[in-house]
This record gives sequence, C-alpha cells and structure tokens, in this order.
Amino acid sequence: MNPALDSLMLVFSANDGLSVPARTLFLGAEFHPALKNWPQVTGWQTLKPKADGWDQAGFRRCDDPPDGKWPVVLVLPGKCRDETLAWFAMARERLEPGGRIVAAMPNTAGAGRFEKDLSKAAGNITSLQKHKCRAFHAIEDGGWNEETFEAWSLLGEKRKILGTDFVTQAGIFSSEHIDPGSQLLADHLPTSLHGRVADLGAGWGFLANAALNRCPKIERIDLFEADSRALDCAKINLSHQPDEKFIHFNWHDVTTGLPETYDAILMNPPFHIGQATHVDLGRAFLTTAIASLKRGGKLFLVANRQLPYEAVLEVSGLAWRKSAETKTYKLLFAEKR
Ligand SMILES: C[S@@+](CC[C@H](N)C(=O)[O-])C[C@H]1O[C@@H](n2cnc3c(N)ncnc32)[C@H](O)[C@@H]1O
Repeated sequence: MNPALDSLMLVFSANDGLSVPARTLFLGAEFHPALKNWPQVTGWQTLKPKADGWDQAGFRRCDDPPDGKWPVVLVLPGKCRDETLAWFAMARERLEPGGRIVAAMPNTAGAGRFEKDLSKAAGNITSLQKHKCRAFHAIEDGGWNEETFEAWSLLGEKRKILGTDFVTQAGIFSSEHIDPGSQLLADHLPTSLHGRVADLGAGWGFLANAALNRCPKIERIDLFEADSRALDCAKINLSHQPDEKFIHFNWHDVTTGLPETYDAILMNPPFHIGQATHVDLGRAFLTTAIASLKRGGKLFLVANRQLPYEAVLEVSGLAWRKSAETKTYKLLFAEKR
C-alpha cells in the first residue's frame, strides 16, 4: 500500500478527522479499502496499472481530468515539482466554493515544501504527519491567491524540449531532455531492423521515432506505455511520420504481457515505481519481451550498467551480447533462437 495514500485517508479516519464528503474527485486516484464506504468518488489516474486497480475496485474513472466542481478534491501527485503544482491548480479549478483540497505525499518527495507552496496560495493549512509522509488540506474561503493557481496551471501544459520539436509534459519520464541511454540505443540500432517492432515503455516516443527515422524496413511499430500523458505526447511526436508507417499507440501495462509477437523489441525499461527502485519491474519487462519475440526475433535493450538483466537473458536461453557500454549505460542485444 502506498504510504502517502494511507496518510491521505487518515485525514478522514482519525478520531477528530474530517467527515466523509458526499462527492469527491480524486486526482492520482488509487484504491484504498477505506474508500469503499464513501458515497461517490470519481478518479483520474494516468498510470495504467493503478487505473486498472481503481477500475477493478468498482469506482468511476475518467480518462481526462473531468469537468465539474466538487466539495472535496483529493490530490496524490507524483514526484515532479511542476506536476504537483499543476495538480494543485487542477484541484482548485474543480473545487466548489467553500470546498477543500486534501493532498498527501512522502517527505522524500518534498512534502514539506509543497505544503508551504499550497499554504502561500491558499492560506491556512492543516497538516498531519504519518508513515514518513505528510497529508495537508486547505479550505477555500474566498481569499485564495488565484494568480498563483493560474501560474501553476501553466506548468502542467504540454511543452517542447529545448532545442527540439519534441513535446512532453511535466511528470512524465525525461520531460526536460532526451534520455542519454535512449539516445545511445537509438544511435546503435541496426538500420536493417525490419518487420513488426514493439517499443516497450515507449514514453513520449523518442525511441520509436528514432527507429522509424533510421530503419526504413520497419513495417509497423507498436508503442506500449503505462502513462497516458506520455502516450499523448508520443502521438504528437510521431505525427509527422508518413501515413504508410503503421503506428499503434497502446495504453498498456507491459508486465501483463503483450497481445502479439514481434520481429524486434526495443526498450529502455523502467526500474522505478514512484521514488523506489524496483529492479523487478525491469525484469518483468524483459520477461514480457522474451515471451513476445518471434523465433529469430531480436531484442535491443539499454539499461544502467548496474542493473542485473544479463541473468534473465541467460536463463531464458536467448543468444545475447553486450554491444556497447559507457560509464553509465550498457546496450544488451539478444536473439530468440
Ligand atoms: C526509462 S523510461 C523510457 C521511456 C522512453 N522509451 C524513452 O526512451 O524516452 C520507461 C518508461 O516505461 C513506462 N512504464 C513504467 N511502468 C510501465 C508498465 N508497467 N507498463 C508500461 N510502461 C511502463 C514509464 O512511464 C516510462 O515512460
């Protein structure tokens, strides 16, 4: 269970806690057992595994931040500063007069600093600390600093990476620059790469775009990405590719497997969930990739040097080699025999 979510729910469950609202909007929605007793909760969640958990619990979910006003808006942001402030603004826009914003985050994600930010814009803040997290809330009293919220709102808009035409958004992977690991992989992709290709954890589309530019024999490329905001950016970033290239964008949890098999799979696998390092997530990506390669299919992987992916390739029986290495990254190329 996410400790920030536990802290968020404590605001409503402590002895002197707030009463459960009649209607709630939850930005960054994640299921918590205590929510079962709440009358009406609408969730917005950009990450597919969490969205699936929310759906399975039977709650209402919107693909985009919904229009409307709520008496309470819960905010469980990621770790990025611009994203968090933009989500405060999004919550403010959807708050009924006299409504309340309730946010929670881990101390290591800068909870204290964000509490100060919100208190500058909203005035009085009530706060509790538990599970190395902070939950804080503010009630709209007609005196909030709307200019600050408007400025924060702009931080959530799509933007271009400096010096490029690539569009990204705060909170998605590598939103400020091209990831050097992905660049290394792109530079080493064989131009002979052909057929049906998948990009796992495709982000805002850098690798897929580079592959299409470099490898004219690719017939089709399927992007699989868990963060719907990144996938929306990828759609824009690949929109200049010629129509005859078949490009499919899938909001998908790669750890659940893929529906088809491929001649080649590219990936720069994730190894973080929130702030924590989860090498198992990268391993799960590898397992999916190996299962989804055709016989003779090829895997092109970039990873931080210390990540132990060679062992997975070894036990799976793929022929593999380290095709390049820098101080930080390694490229592992493999073939399914
Ligand atoms: C290291 S980044 C690589 C992004 C992109 N390929 C690039 O080169 O810029 C890993 C990506 O995997 C995505 N991701 C994380 N967990 C995922 C999952 N379970 N299923 C699909 N994608 C996931 C992240 O959102 C992130 O965009």
